[in-house]
Amino acid sequence: MGSSRRSKAGIFLGFLLLNLIQLVLGRFVVEKNSLKVTSPDSIKGTYDSAIGNFGIPQYGGSMAGAVVYPKENQKGCKSFSDFGINYKPKPGAMPNFLLVDRGDCFFALKVWNAQNAGASAVLVADNLDEALITMDTPEEDVSSAAYLQNITIPSALIEKSFAEKLRKAISGGDMVNVNLDWREAVPHPDDRVEYELWTNSNDECGFKCDMLMNFVKDFKGAAQILEKGGYTQFTPHYITWYCPTAFTVSKQCKSQCINHGRYCAPDPEQDFTSGYEGKDVVIENLRQLCVFKVANETKKPWVWWDYVTDFQIRCPMKEKKYNKDCADQVIKSLGLDLKSIEKCMGDPNADSDNPVLKEEQDAQVGKGSRGDVTILPTVVVNNRQYRGKLEKGAVLKALCAGFEETTEPSVCLSTDVETNECLDNNGGCWRDKAANLTACKDTFRGRVCECPVVNGVQFKGDGYSSCVASGPGRCKINNGGCWQDTRDGRSFSACLDNEEGKCSCPPGFKGDGVKSCEDIDECKEKKACQCPECSCKNTWGSYECTCSGDLLYIRDHDTCISKRATEVKSAWAAVWVILIGLGMAGAGAYLVYKYRLRSYMDSEIRAIMAQYMPLDSQNEVPHHANDEHA
Ligand SMILES: *[C@@H]1O[C@H](CO)[C@@H](O)[C@H](O)[C@H]1NC(C)=O
Ligand SMILES: *[C@@H]1O[C@H](CO)[C@@H](O)[C@H](O)[C@H]1NC(C)=O
Ligand SMILES: *[C@@H]1O[C@H](CO)[C@@H](O)[C@H](O)[C@H]1NC(C)=O
Repeated sequence: MGSSRRSKAGIFLGFLLLNLIQLVLGRFVVEKNSLKVTSPDSIKGTYDSAIGNFGIPQYGGSMAGAVVYPKENQKGCKSFSDFGINYKPKPGAMPNFLLVDRGDCFFALKVWNAQNAGASAVLVADNLDEALITMDTPEEDVSSAAYLQNITIPSALIEKSFAEKLRKAISGGDMVNVNLDWREAVPHPDDRVEYELWTNSNDECGFKCDMLMNFVKDFKGAAQILEKGGYTQFTPHYITWYCPTAFTVSKQCKSQCINHGRYCAPDPEQDFTSGYEGKDVVIENLRQLCVFKVANETKKPWVWWDYVTDFQIRCPMKEKKYNKDCADQVIKSLGLDLKSIEKCMGDPNADSDNPVLKEEQDAQVGKGSRGDVTILPTVVVNNRQYRGKLEKGAVLKALCAGFEETTEPSVCLSTDVETNECLDNNGGCWRDKAANLTACKDTFRGRVCECPVVNGVQFKGDGYSSCVASGPGRCKINNGGCWQDTRDGRSFSACLDNEEGKCSCPPGFKGDGVKSCEDIDECKEKKACQCPECSCKNTWGSYECTCSGDLLYIRDHDTCISKRATEVKSAWAAVWVILIGLGMAGAGAYLVYKYRLRSYMDSEIRAIMAQYMPLDSQNEVPHHANDEHA
């Protein structure tokens, strides 16, 4: 009871924080493209339209088409094929721009239905007299996630009054031609594009987080090429909220915020009682900012892309690895200076501003032509917010539209650009220098860390900090990553071919089997060789036991016994009786055997004598040959 009430209060507070920012920072600028009506003359002119946050706007380009308005399914919430309608243009005809009415379902669904019906673009008619808004992706709807990724046509919201003019012209039988123009959607003043990605390290928020993570992974290669070539100046940003002063000491703010309520993020699971806290997200966001700062200071700002993608792969919340230890390993493997990053992060418990996060909060507020950043993720190109699908090709198109004509780098003209990121610091991947093995593979998407296959032996591991040979033959390669040692001509190994990637110390040793196996002192630890007559001597990997007097040590039974039958110890009497019995039977059999052997020998000797006595006998050679072949 108590905990569920608490988590409800927490969710409420989360919403409060989210709403607060919308109230405080209300200046949300909608990115517009220009929509020009070229005919009929009665409505000729340029109109505003707001680019949707999905699909692929043709940044830097333009598109001409004829507007059509459906007689049925005017909101576009149902599949047009149910009505037998198709908007695919006939060969040589102009593309169709479908006009649909706002309402009843998600914007994205209308656009998806239009795309399936063959439309080339969608104009959504607003149903209110209001300033245009951005049509965003549905936040948490899982069923829409399936088609959102597949929306490729551009879409735009248009004003109610303009939509009425269009409908009137169409119903009057006019052919309405429009031109959608994205050429000025991104300013392109010079030969360098400045762009920002407003992102988040949280990996457990469903569709939006997955989309962001996939984008970062896909875009990394292109981003690094552009940055290394000096074509772009990229800056990552992270949104934080602050806790209302009245709540600073509340449990909720304490778990969501650092620096005494100054910088907060919503709880990743929206549940205060389990999993990670908002605070954990703020701290990781801060670390990623500092990774960028430190990398930028060493003139390698592009390492940020490696850090965030590696962190996603190596330190996911799902595996409970979203923490400092894991982050530090990633930082180290990329060759960044951990101390500088820690210094940059400062003390999250201090009751004072953190300069890095303060700067981020200030940057959230819009400047000049750019509105406040309130949608996560957001890409800003040349200080203008990008609208459209968060996908490599679409974003690259927007970046390329930001270069002054003819100054575009070649990556804008073709996507196959050669770099080998494994040459630099081994790409931060696992490497065994001594054996000349690496997990780094260069691909067109930037490098990936994958354990190699060497001479048919598969290595397994995370590819970053460990790769271990596994399966048959694994011990031949670097002893399977296991311990081995040789002393005084004796060798021991902790590798077994059939143990999947595992190392275990051989008998007589103890340890992890990887770095070390230590000899077990059997005399002390195993209590071996402890009988009164025994004297124990430990050796490397084993032990030696000797018995006093003329007693004999029996290893299997760890005891000393007399060599003489008369002094048999009571426990062994039966054994000795049997042994003596067997001995006597053996002796009897021996005598019989001896006798037979002797008579056999006698006859054999006689035969040989008969053969060899005549020294030049012709019989000798063929007799031998027969023997050999017998
Ligand atoms: C989206 O496209 C992918 C591949 O192009 C396809 O496998 C998938 O079924 C499509 N999803 C929908 C909802 O059409
Ligand atoms: C990154 O470094 C460049 C100069 O090397 C500087 O102009 C830029 O402001 C730096 N960016 C940040 C976010 O510190
Ligand atoms: C290491 O291996 C690569 C290819 O696997 C080879 O090109 C290189 O010469 C090797 N280096 C050494 C020092 O053996």
